Amino acid sequence: MQNSRTFPLTRKEREDRIVWASVRATLEAFRFKYKRSGKKSKSHWTLFERLLVLFKIFLKVAGLYNRGIANAKNIQITELQVTIKDLPDTFEGFRILHLSDLHIDAIPGFEDIVIEKTAPLKYDLCVMTGDYRKNTVGSYKNIIPAMQKLLSAINAPYGIVATLGNHDTYHMVDDAEQMGVRMLINETVVVEKKGNKISITGTDDTFYYYSDDAIYALEKQTEGTKIALSHTSELHDIAAENGYHLYLCGHTHAGQICLPGGIPLIAHQKDGKKFIRGFWRENGMTGYTSSGVGVSGIPMRFNTTGEIVLITLTKE
Ligand SMILES: [Fe+2]
Repeated sequence: MQNSRTFPLTRKEREDRIVWASVRATLEAFRFKYKRSGKKSKSHWTLFERLLVLFKIFLKVAGLYNRGIANAKNIQITELQVTIKDLPDTFEGFRILHLSDLHIDAIPGFEDIVIEKTAPLKYDLCVMTGDYRKNTVGSYKNIIPAMQKLLSAINAPYGIVATLGNHDTYHMVDDAEQMGVRMLINETVVVEKKGNKISITGTDDTFYYYSDDAIYALEKQTEGTKIALSHTSELHDIAAENGYHLYLCGHTHAGQICLPGGIPLIAHQKDGKKFIRGFWRENGMTGYTSSGVGVSGIPMRFNTTGEIVLITLTKE
Protein backbone atom coordinates (compact mmCIF):
# COMPACT_ATOMS: atom_id res chain seq x y z
CA MET A 1 0.00 0.00 0.00
CA GLN A 2 1.22 3.47 -0.84
CA ASN A 3 1.24 6.22 1.78
CA SER A 4 2.55 9.71 2.28
CA ARG A 5 6.05 8.41 1.72
CA THR A 6 4.94 7.40 -1.80
CA PHE A 7 4.69 11.10 -2.63
CA PRO A 8 7.77 12.50 -0.87
CA LEU A 9 8.09 16.24 -0.48
CA THR A 10 10.64 17.88 -2.71
CA ARG A 11 13.20 20.19 -1.18
CA LYS A 12 11.37 23.18 -2.69
CA GLU A 13 8.07 21.99 -1.18
CA ARG A 14 9.72 21.66 2.23
CA GLU A 15 11.05 25.21 1.98
CA ASP A 16 7.70 26.55 0.76
CA ARG A 17 5.88 24.85 3.61
CA ILE A 18 8.00 26.68 6.19
CA VAL A 19 6.95 30.01 4.69
CA TRP A 20 3.32 28.86 4.31
CA ALA A 21 3.12 27.66 7.93
CA SER A 22 4.37 30.97 9.28
CA VAL A 23 1.85 32.94 7.18
CA ARG A 24 -1.07 30.66 8.01
CA ALA A 25 -0.13 30.67 11.72
CA THR A 26 -0.49 34.45 11.65
CA LEU A 27 -3.84 34.30 9.84
CA GLU A 28 -5.16 31.69 12.29
CA ALA A 29 -4.01 33.77 15.26
CA PHE A 30 -5.94 36.84 14.07
CA ARG A 31 -9.12 34.84 13.41
CA PHE A 32 -10.00 36.77 10.31
CA LYS A 33 -11.44 35.38 7.10
CA TYR A 34 -9.17 36.23 4.17
CA LYS A 35 -11.06 36.08 0.91
CA ARG A 36 -10.03 35.99 -2.74
CA SER A 37 -11.87 39.27 -3.29
CA GLY A 38 -9.34 40.92 -0.98
CA LYS A 39 -11.92 41.32 1.77
CA LYS A 40 -10.87 40.61 5.33
CA SER A 41 -13.56 40.05 7.94
CA LYS A 42 -13.74 38.73 11.45
CA SER A 43 -14.79 35.08 11.73
CA HIS A 44 -18.08 34.80 13.60
CA TRP A 45 -18.11 31.01 13.84
CA THR A 46 -17.99 31.01 17.65
CA LEU A 47 -20.92 33.43 17.79
CA PHE A 48 -22.75 31.28 15.22
CA GLU A 49 -22.23 28.23 17.46
CA ARG A 50 -23.71 30.14 20.40
CA LEU A 51 -26.81 30.95 18.37
CA LEU A 52 -27.07 27.29 17.47
CA VAL A 53 -27.47 26.47 21.16
CA LEU A 54 -30.83 28.27 21.01
CA PHE A 55 -31.71 26.33 17.88
CA LYS A 56 -30.84 23.09 19.71
CA ILE A 57 -33.21 24.03 22.51
CA PHE A 58 -35.95 24.69 19.95
CA LEU A 59 -35.36 21.30 18.33
CA LYS A 60 -35.54 19.55 21.71
CA VAL A 61 -38.83 21.27 22.56
CA ALA A 62 -40.17 20.39 19.10
CA GLY A 63 -39.14 16.74 19.58
CA LEU A 64 -36.82 16.84 16.54
CA TYR A 65 -33.45 16.60 18.29
CA ASN A 66 -32.95 12.82 18.18
CA ARG A 67 -34.29 12.58 14.65
CA GLY A 68 -31.72 15.16 13.50
CA ILE A 69 -28.87 13.17 15.04
CA ALA A 70 -30.16 9.95 13.46
CA ASN A 71 -30.30 11.75 10.09
CA ALA A 72 -26.65 12.83 10.49
CA LYS A 73 -25.58 9.26 11.22
CA ASN A 74 -27.44 7.92 8.21
CA ILE A 75 -24.63 8.44 5.66
CA GLN A 76 -25.23 7.33 2.09
CA ILE A 77 -22.78 5.92 -0.43
CA THR A 78 -22.91 7.94 -3.65
CA GLU A 79 -21.46 6.07 -6.61
CA LEU A 80 -20.60 8.26 -9.57
CA GLN A 81 -19.07 7.79 -12.97
CA VAL A 82 -16.95 10.64 -14.29
CA THR A 83 -16.18 10.70 -17.99
CA ILE A 84 -12.84 12.23 -18.90
CA LYS A 85 -11.73 12.91 -22.42
CA ASP A 86 -8.29 11.42 -23.10
CA LEU A 87 -8.19 9.46 -19.84
CA PRO A 88 -5.22 7.10 -20.25
CA ASP A 89 -6.32 3.51 -20.86
CA THR A 90 -4.60 2.26 -17.71
CA PHE A 91 -6.83 4.54 -15.60
CA GLU A 92 -10.07 3.22 -17.10
CA GLY A 93 -12.17 2.17 -14.12
CA PHE A 94 -9.84 3.86 -11.59
CA ARG A 95 -11.83 4.45 -8.41
CA ILE A 96 -11.49 7.39 -6.05
CA LEU A 97 -13.00 7.46 -2.59
CA HIS A 98 -13.86 11.07 -1.72
CA LEU A 99 -14.36 11.95 1.94
CA SER A 100 -15.12 15.57 2.74
CA ASP A 101 -16.05 17.34 5.95
CA LEU A 102 -15.62 14.42 8.31
CA HIS A 103 -15.88 16.63 11.43
CA ILE A 104 -15.01 13.38 13.14
CA ASP A 105 -15.56 14.60 16.72
CA ALA A 106 -19.01 16.15 16.17
CA ILE A 107 -20.77 12.86 16.97
CA PRO A 108 -19.26 10.35 19.42
CA GLY A 109 -18.18 7.15 17.65
CA PHE A 110 -18.72 8.71 14.20
CA GLU A 111 -15.52 7.10 12.90
CA ASP A 112 -17.03 3.65 13.47
CA ILE A 113 -20.02 4.55 11.28
CA VAL A 114 -17.70 5.75 8.49
CA ILE A 115 -15.52 2.63 8.81
CA GLU A 116 -18.56 0.36 8.59
CA LYS A 117 -19.84 2.20 5.50
CA THR A 118 -16.50 2.25 3.67
CA ALA A 119 -15.48 -1.34 4.54
CA PRO A 120 -17.25 -3.03 1.60
CA LEU A 121 -16.05 -0.45 -0.95
CA LYS A 122 -13.22 -1.04 -3.39
CA TYR A 123 -11.17 1.95 -4.49
CA ASP A 124 -7.68 2.79 -5.70
CA LEU A 125 -7.10 6.21 -4.16
CA CYS A 126 -8.65 8.11 -1.27
CA VAL A 127 -8.96 11.91 -1.37
CA MET A 128 -10.12 14.08 1.52
CA THR A 129 -11.12 17.73 1.09
CA GLY A 130 -10.84 19.18 4.57
CA ASP A 131 -12.70 19.85 7.82
CA TYR A 132 -11.55 16.99 10.01
CA ARG A 133 -12.65 18.49 13.32
CA LYS A 134 -15.82 20.11 14.68
CA ASN A 135 -14.34 23.38 15.97
CA THR A 136 -12.43 26.04 14.10
CA VAL A 137 -10.08 26.98 16.95
CA GLY A 138 -8.31 25.34 19.88
CA SER A 139 -6.57 22.01 20.16
CA TYR A 140 -7.25 19.35 17.57
CA LYS A 141 -5.47 16.57 19.46
CA ASN A 142 -8.79 15.02 20.51
CA ILE A 143 -9.44 13.87 16.93
CA ILE A 144 -6.17 12.00 16.49
CA PRO A 145 -7.34 8.60 17.87
CA ALA A 146 -10.51 8.64 15.75
CA MET A 147 -8.64 9.78 12.62
CA GLN A 148 -5.95 7.18 13.22
CA LYS A 149 -8.61 4.47 13.51
CA LEU A 150 -10.39 5.62 10.37
CA LEU A 151 -7.23 6.02 8.30
CA SER A 152 -6.02 2.55 9.26
CA ALA A 153 -9.26 1.19 7.86
CA ILE A 154 -8.82 2.98 4.51
CA ASN A 155 -7.34 0.51 2.07
CA ALA A 156 -6.25 2.64 -0.88
CA PRO A 157 -3.47 1.02 -2.93
CA TYR A 158 -2.50 4.38 -4.47
CA GLY A 159 -2.54 6.22 -1.16
CA ILE A 160 -4.45 8.95 0.63
CA VAL A 161 -4.12 12.62 -0.32
CA ALA A 162 -5.84 15.50 1.42
CA THR A 163 -6.32 19.23 1.75
CA LEU A 164 -7.10 21.41 4.74
CA GLY A 165 -10.51 22.99 5.34
CA ASN A 166 -11.52 26.16 7.15
CA HIS A 167 -12.06 24.22 10.39
CA ASP A 168 -8.50 22.90 10.28
CA THR A 169 -5.19 24.23 11.51
CA TYR A 170 -1.72 24.17 10.03
CA HIS A 171 -0.64 22.20 13.11
CA MET A 172 -2.47 19.14 11.74
CA VAL A 173 -0.25 18.71 8.70
CA ASP A 174 2.60 16.86 10.39
CA ASP A 175 0.28 14.58 12.37
CA ALA A 176 -1.68 13.72 9.22
CA GLU A 177 1.48 12.89 7.31
CA GLN A 178 2.71 10.70 10.14
CA MET A 179 -0.58 8.82 9.80
CA GLY A 180 0.20 8.17 6.12
CA VAL A 181 -1.78 10.99 4.50
CA ARG A 182 -0.03 13.13 1.92
CA MET A 183 -1.29 16.64 2.59
CA LEU A 184 -1.46 18.90 -0.45
CA ILE A 185 -0.66 22.45 0.56
CA ASN A 186 -0.87 24.16 -2.81
CA GLU A 187 1.05 21.17 -4.13
CA THR A 188 0.74 18.50 -6.79
CA VAL A 189 1.40 14.78 -6.68
CA VAL A 190 1.50 12.46 -9.67
CA VAL A 191 -0.18 9.06 -9.55
CA GLU A 192 1.44 6.75 -12.05
CA LYS A 193 -0.05 3.56 -13.44
CA LYS A 194 1.83 1.56 -16.05
CA GLY A 195 3.56 4.65 -17.40
CA ASN A 196 0.45 6.83 -17.53
CA LYS A 197 -0.16 9.71 -15.14
CA ILE A 198 -2.81 11.59 -13.24
CA SER A 199 -1.83 14.82 -11.51
CA ILE A 200 -3.63 15.75 -8.33
CA THR A 201 -3.30 19.31 -7.12
CA GLY A 202 -4.62 20.27 -3.70
CA THR A 203 -4.98 23.83 -2.47
CA ASP A 204 -4.99 25.32 0.97
CA ASP A 205 -8.43 26.37 2.24
CA THR A 206 -9.63 29.54 0.56
CA PHE A 207 -12.77 30.12 2.65
CA TYR A 208 -10.88 31.53 5.65
CA TYR A 209 -7.26 31.44 4.52
CA TYR A 210 -7.07 32.55 0.90
CA SER A 211 -3.66 33.32 -0.54
CA ASP A 212 -2.59 33.69 -4.16
CA ASP A 213 -0.49 30.53 -3.73
CA ALA A 214 -3.70 28.51 -4.17
CA ILE A 215 -4.12 30.02 -7.64
CA TYR A 216 -0.44 29.60 -8.50
CA ALA A 217 -0.71 25.91 -7.59
CA LEU A 218 -3.51 25.43 -10.12
CA GLU A 219 -1.65 27.43 -12.77
CA LYS A 220 1.44 25.23 -12.64
CA GLN A 221 2.04 22.86 -15.54
CA THR A 222 1.18 19.29 -14.57
CA GLU A 223 1.17 15.94 -16.32
CA GLY A 224 -1.65 13.80 -17.68
CA THR A 225 -5.23 13.95 -16.46
CA LYS A 226 -5.66 16.79 -13.99
CA ILE A 227 -7.69 16.60 -10.78
CA ALA A 228 -8.09 19.55 -8.40
CA LEU A 229 -8.91 19.16 -4.71
CA SER A 230 -10.01 22.15 -2.69
CA HIS A 231 -12.19 22.56 0.36
CA THR A 232 -14.63 24.85 -1.44
CA SER A 233 -15.69 25.41 -5.04
CA GLU A 234 -14.25 28.95 -4.96
CA LEU A 235 -11.41 28.17 -7.39
CA HIS A 236 -13.61 26.53 -10.03
CA ASP A 237 -12.89 29.21 -12.63
CA ILE A 238 -9.12 29.05 -12.21
CA ALA A 239 -9.09 25.24 -12.39
CA ALA A 240 -11.28 25.23 -15.51
CA GLU A 241 -9.12 27.88 -17.21
CA ASN A 242 -6.06 25.75 -16.53
CA GLY A 243 -7.42 22.60 -18.14
CA TYR A 244 -8.43 20.60 -15.08
CA HIS A 245 -10.67 17.67 -15.88
CA LEU A 246 -12.20 17.12 -12.44
CA TYR A 247 -12.62 19.35 -9.36
CA LEU A 248 -13.64 17.82 -6.04
CA CYS A 249 -14.72 19.85 -3.05
CA GLY A 250 -17.14 19.97 -0.12
CA HIS A 251 -17.65 22.57 2.62
CA THR A 252 -21.37 23.27 2.18
CA HIS A 253 -22.70 20.06 3.79
CA ALA A 254 -25.47 20.60 1.16
CA GLY A 255 -26.89 23.07 3.65
CA GLN A 256 -27.00 20.46 6.49
CA ILE A 257 -30.20 22.00 7.89
CA CYS A 258 -32.58 22.33 4.99
CA LEU A 259 -36.22 23.01 4.40
CA PRO A 260 -38.25 20.26 2.74
CA GLY A 261 -37.00 19.79 -0.81
CA GLY A 262 -33.39 20.25 0.31
CA ILE A 263 -33.52 24.05 0.36
CA PRO A 264 -30.62 25.19 2.56
CA LEU A 265 -31.14 27.76 5.30
CA ILE A 266 -27.42 28.59 5.15
CA ALA A 267 -24.86 27.12 2.73
CA HIS A 268 -21.78 29.15 3.78
CA GLN A 269 -20.85 29.98 0.20
CA LYS A 270 -21.43 32.73 -2.34
CA ASP A 271 -20.31 30.97 -5.51
CA GLY A 272 -23.84 30.33 -6.67
CA LYS A 273 -26.56 27.76 -6.26
CA LYS A 274 -25.12 25.23 -8.67
CA PHE A 275 -22.07 24.74 -6.42
CA ILE A 276 -24.01 23.86 -3.25
CA ARG A 277 -24.18 20.12 -3.90
CA GLY A 278 -23.55 17.47 -6.50
CA PHE A 279 -22.29 17.67 -10.07
CA TRP A 280 -21.65 20.92 -11.88
CA ARG A 281 -19.86 21.85 -15.08
CA GLU A 282 -17.54 24.78 -15.70
CA ASN A 283 -15.97 25.54 -19.04
CA GLY A 284 -15.52 21.84 -19.95
CA MET A 285 -14.46 20.78 -16.43
CA THR A 286 -16.58 18.46 -14.29
CA GLY A 287 -16.97 19.44 -10.65
CA TYR A 288 -18.54 17.71 -7.71
CA THR A 289 -19.45 19.30 -4.39
CA SER A 290 -19.83 16.60 -1.75
CA SER A 291 -22.62 16.96 0.80
CA GLY A 292 -19.92 16.03 3.32
CA VAL A 293 -19.67 12.93 5.43
CA GLY A 294 -20.15 14.66 8.76
CA VAL A 295 -21.75 17.70 10.32
CA SER A 296 -20.66 20.82 12.19
CA GLY A 297 -22.31 23.45 14.33
CA ILE A 298 -25.03 21.12 15.54
CA PRO A 299 -24.69 17.34 15.14
CA MET A 300 -27.77 17.02 12.96
CA ARG A 301 -29.13 17.04 9.45
CA PHE A 302 -32.59 17.80 8.16
CA ASN A 303 -33.74 17.25 4.58
CA THR A 304 -30.22 16.41 3.42
CA THR A 305 -27.98 13.37 3.75
CA GLY A 306 -24.27 13.01 4.41
CA GLU A 307 -22.37 11.10 1.78
CA ILE A 308 -19.30 9.03 1.09
CA VAL A 309 -18.53 9.49 -2.59
CA LEU A 310 -17.08 6.76 -4.78
CA ILE A 311 -16.01 7.97 -8.21
CA THR A 312 -15.15 5.72 -11.13
CA LEU A 313 -13.15 7.35 -13.93
CA THR A 314 -13.96 6.38 -17.47
CA LYS A 315 -12.84 7.51 -20.90
CA GLU A 316 -15.17 9.56 -23.06
FE1 LIG B 1 -17.40 21.29 6.96
